[in-house]
Amino acid sequence: MKYQSIIVLIIFLLAACGGGQEQTQDQNHQPKSMLQPEPEPEPESEPVVANEAGKKVYDQYCVVCHQASGQGVPSAFPPLVQTEYVNGDAGRMIDIVLNGLTGEIEVNGEVYNSVMVAHNFLSDIEVADVITFVRSNFGNDAPAVTADEVAAIRTAQ
Ligand code: HEC
Repeated sequence: MKYQSIIVLIIFLLAACGGGQEQTQDQNHQPKSMLQPEPEPEPESEPVVANEAGKKVYDQYCVVCHQASGQGVPSAFPPLVQTEYVNGDAGRMIDIVLNGLTGEIEVNGEVYNSVMVAHNFLSDIEVADVITFVRSNFGNDAPAVTADEVAAIRTAQ
């Protein structure tokens, strides 16, 4: 009797150990992140100057923050290279240049929360030129902006 119950016990223990191995499987399951940042676009090597007047305004008023390459400064000044603000709606970009921008924005997968000063002291033609310059350089390819479009947004405020 005693011998048999030891055998039963051993069989029981073996079964218990075998079962235990299956439990370690399902633990490394992690949800796939939905927030994978987009890969950075390749910067163009040298900006092609499509608009001399616009480049002058850029070099005087924008370059200090957004840099000569348009790449900005990480965590401080966002890039002007293939961003939705630069290549997107012209009216929104005119508004940003005229009135500045504050608060949290996401640019090419990076979050910025800083202050861009207003540039409403620039003339309509200067704003049009600088925006046209940015939209056709730094690897961007968005349509030009006219002084009339700038004037319309300035007076709408
Ligand atoms: C004093 C620094 C500074 C200057 C000068 C400046 N910006 Fe900005 N700019 C910023 C900052 C900071 C932001 C982001 C603001 C935020 O976090 O809400 C920004 C945002 C932008 C954006 C929208 C985001 C993006 O990167 O696409 C555009 C477009 C832009 N600036 C264009 C210009 C142009 C054109 C000029 C020159 C007329 C200019 N900026 C001058 C600091 C500056």
